[in-house]
Amino acid sequence: MKATAKANVNIALIKYWGKRDEELILPTNNSLSLTLDGLYTTTTVQFKEELTEDVFTLDGEKVTGVAFKRVTEFLNIIRKEAGKESLYAEINSKNDVPTAAGFASSASGFAALAAAASKAIGLNLSDEELSRITRRGSGSACRSIYGGFAEWQMGEKDDGSDSYAVPIAPRDHWDLRIAAVILTDKQKSVSSRDGMKRTVDSSAFFQGWVESNPADLEGIKEGIKARDFHKVGEIAEANCLKMHATTLAAKPPFTYWTDSTMKVMQEVQKMRADGIPAYFTIDAGPNVKLLYLPEYEETILERLKEISDVTEVILSRAGEGITYL
Ligand code: PMV
Repeated sequence: MKATAKANVNIALIKYWGKRDEELILPTNNSLSLTLDGLYTTTTVQFKEELTEDVFTLDGEKVTGVAFKRVTEFLNIIRKEAGKESLYAEINSKNDVPTAAGFASSASGFAALAAAASKAIGLNLSDEELSRITRRGSGSACRSIYGGFAEWQMGEKDDGSDSYAVPIAPRDHWDLRIAAVILTDKQKSVSSRDGMKRTVDSSAFFQGWVESNPADLEGIKEGIKARDFHKVGEIAEANCLKMHATTLAAKPPFTYWTDSTMKVMQEVQKMRADGIPAYFTIDAGPNVKLLYLPEYEETILERLKEISDVTEVILSRAGEGITYL
């Protein structure tokens, strides 16, 4: 009745942005990500007959309120699946993702929780089944089941049974690197959940975003297969810009960018003009992630250090999927 699992964060190269079902967390487009190395959550779940409710501890502190509710509601799905609806658990999580890094730690968090809880309660799930359940905690988390490149297939069915991630290429297929550029000025950000909803409900650009996604996805899959850095980078950067454009056309409009975000984006464009291959991607926050190849790491770091708004740069590479400890 006890299991421990570790899951890494992932970074989307083709973004998940929009739900067609809020309750089941079903997306309006496929997305594709790279699971990173060394940015992870470790979670132990122990089900106990004597408990009358779940107890959730994160980094040594008991969690209550909205964060607790999300965890316990997610465990209800696992309990139901196992036919053990009145069995509660102690959940202990440790985040080894720098909080300021602007990585959705919900991805590593829900992937580790789903894996540990399903194993502890005795469900023997395939990767596909685990990904499908993980999706219900946080959409992007369903891609963290796999190492390397993974694609979340949106599916078509109303019940979500065909909406889960599949592996595209293992971590050792290609040594693509990611640098997370941490910026000084924090703005109060719209949560990805609220941002997506506002975009779907009101953005004049939402239809264009959805319609242009399949071509991006096909192109990037070809690029990954051929290890074509420019092809992958160009598509990832353009896909990110399109996602962020939808927020500007929402009612009321919003953006995750700050002036520091823009400075880094412009620096990346300058790097390219100077013959340094680098591309950017941005999620639901101001920080920027750079895509680069190992031989340019030093040069890119030097250029980033010249920007005064940059407080820290976290370097990562392709990582592994779920592991059980
Ligand atoms: O799974 P969520 O609700 O944290 O949404 C993540 C959305 C983005 O990070 C912006 C894009 C993505 O595909 O990860």
